[in-house]
Formats: sequence, structure tokens, C-alpha cells
Amino acid sequence: MEIHIVADADAGAKVVADLFERTVRDAGDSGAVLGLATGSSPVPTYTELIRRHRVEGLSFAACRAFLLDEYVGLPAGHEQSYHAFIRENFVSKVDIEDASVISPNGAATDPAAEAAEYDRRISEAGGVDLQILGIGSNGHIAFNEPGSSLASRTRVVGLTRSTIADNARYFDSPADVPVRAISQGLGTILEARRIVLTASGEGKAAAVAQLAEGAISARWPATVLQTHPAVTVVVDEAAASQLELADYYRHSRALESDIPLSTDR
Ligand code: GLP
Repeated sequence: MEIHIVADADAGAKVVADLFERTVRDAGDSGAVLGLATGSSPVPTYTELIRRHRVEGLSFAACRAFLLDEYVGLPAGHEQSYHAFIRENFVSKVDIEDASVISPNGAATDPAAEAAEYDRRISEAGGVDLQILGIGSNGHIAFNEPGSSLASRTRVVGLTRSTIADNARYFDSPADVPVRAISQGLGTILEARRIVLTASGEGKAAAVAQLAEGAISARWPATVLQTHPAVTVVVDEAAASQLELADYYRHSRALESDIPLSTDR
């Protein structure tokens, strides 16, 4: 796991956008398969990628993308659906084809079948080249809440009370906040060839400390990322504030700054 402690969101967005740019350029005309996430954490990265598209000509035209998750019960057109969120914050502002950006259908009549079909579609596309992740304050990634199997597949999940409370700010009334989602599983996410997780603020500090230095456990689902060979974590000082090894991460990034990024850390 490669941990970058950055000064602010803009600095973090550049580190993450560099990984996206390299993935897109390396895939060339065959098109990278991008794993996209919602929530506020990836937004500075999307803003930086939109800038690179507009100013530097970075093209996503050949790419396909899969979202991590979607609320059950919200149709794609609902303004708080993740389908709508990713279009507003990224997809509509770059040149990726709208139809190439796939998310679980939260309004499916059979959400369990929809979830199984979703894993099949990711496999059929050849798997995800680069997956971006945020992290919940309770250590969830996508909507894999504490207690999720570390090998879980895309499925229907019930959200914890704390996640429902965290999400309530986006809805007009508490009764409108979805309580279930279709989420890629931890096992599904681990199949991405490279993963980058980004977090900021003190509210994420405990989850980030567990992610990087805690025992691997369903209690903190993000700890499963310790088993993946190519994970980059980009955090600001506040989110890094409970990392015991923060000095070592700073030191090792400085030592590595002039050697190419390895794929196995
Ligand atoms: C939701 C999403 C996660 C996201 C998390 C954190 O639970 N399903 O994918 O990581 O929120 O959101 P934020 O980045 O807004 O803190």
C-alpha cells in the first residue's frame, strides 16, 4: 500500500488524476475500464480530470466505466441517484460515451438478479483497470458495511444507521433517505487491477488508520485492501492524523519520488 499524505484536496486530486491519466493513456485505443465512485471525496479528482480534458486534450472517448454502487429504490433519473451524480460531476463534462458508463439499476424489479448480472458485465468488459474509492467514517468502501464478507460479490445490502445519517444531508426529509443499495462486493472491488482510495478530514481519521494499519477484519471492511498488491491511498493531514506510521510514509514517498511507481507495494 502506498500512502501519500498531501497538503490539501487540490494536491491529492493531482496524485489521483495522474493515475487516471496514465491508465487512460496506457490503454490507448482499446480503452481503459475505469471504476468510478460517488461521494464528495472523488469530486476534486473529477474536477482535475475535466480540466485536463478541456485544457490538455486528455480523452476518455475510448473508455468504459462502472460505478461502485447505487441506492435501491431510486430511479436513474432521481437527482440523488449515483447514476445522476456521476453524470453531473464527471461524465457530462468529458468525452466518454454516456452509454459506456454503467451503474447498477436501483429501480430493478429484481435487485438481487440485477446485482449478479452486474458482476457478469464487469467481467465481460475485462475487469476494471483503475478503481477510485472513498471511505465511510465506519470503514466501509462502496456500501460494504462492517460485517461484510471480505470475499463478497455485488449484492443488495442494508445500510447502517450511521451511513443513513451521513447520507441524510442530501435528501429533503429523513423518510426519503434510502436504506438499501446494490453494491459491488469487497471481492469484486479487489479484482480491479489498481485501486486508489482518497479521504480528507478528521471524520475519516479512524477509518484511514484502520485501513492502513489495523488488523484485516470485517469490522473495518476497507482493511481488505491490505491484501491487494497495487493500492494507493491519498489523504490530507486531518485524515492522516491517526496514522502511527505517518512519518515513515512521508519519508518513503520522498525516497521514491524519483523512481517509477511500482505495481507491487
Ligand atoms: C457513500 C458511498 C461511498 C463513499 C462514502 C463516503 O457511502 N457509497 O462510496 O466512499 O459515501 O462519502 P464521502 O466521500 O462523501 O465522504
